[in-house]
Amino acid sequence: MSVGQELTEHLDELYARLGHGLIVAETGCIRSIDPPVEDSDGWSTLHIARWVASHPGSFLHSIELHPDNVIKAGRILGEKGIPADLFDFYQGESVDGLQQLDRIDFAYLDTSDDLAHGLAEFEIAEEKNAQMIVMDDRETKGLAALAYAKQSGRWDVEERARQVIMRRR
Ligand SMILES: C[S@@+](CC[C@H](N)C(=O)[O-])C[C@H]1O[C@@H](n2cnc3c(N)ncnc32)[C@H](O)[C@@H]1O
Repeated sequence: MSVGQELTEHLDELYARLGHGLIVAETGCIRSIDPPVEDSDGWSTLHIARWVASHPGSFLHSIELHPDNVIKAGRILGEKGIPADLFDFYQGESVDGLQQLDRIDFAYLDTSDDLAHGLAEFEIAEEKNAQMIVMDDRETKGLAALAYAKQSGRWDVEERARQVIMRRR
């Protein structure tokens, strides 16, 4: 299953559980619309934005360090017809960007290959009340957060392919 299909499945699951539109935060945005990049990166921004556009009351906050990627991602969403009032971009360090948000329902964390940084992102998403947190690249980004989530007793943890999926109990 592709990252896009998995993301859609996770969003559908949380939408059914909460019964309202989802505030989604992603860290690390789409960098290219070239088809081979979908396999390696996932095109999360596009898949999430499409889901948001078909689920009223939902919104995507995308957080990305590199200005060029923010510009590219905004252009891609525009070209794909995603209404501009359904998403915004925060250009900067992901931990700072997550901290700016009032509330998160669903977080997709996919920035640097750094386990401590992945844990820091997870902890803020948890603090912002995220009910489901998905981390890509478990071995390089997710392992410390996974251990923390398991140890806390507050999360059910599922490891699937390269991702780790954490559902709040
Ligand atoms: C693997 S790519 C994201 C791929 C994207 N999620 C997708 O599915 O297409 C990682 C992105 O994280 C960004 N990044 C790396 N470190 C970051 C940080 N500390 N804060 C915010 N963004 C960061 C990189 O610039 C890059 O665009």
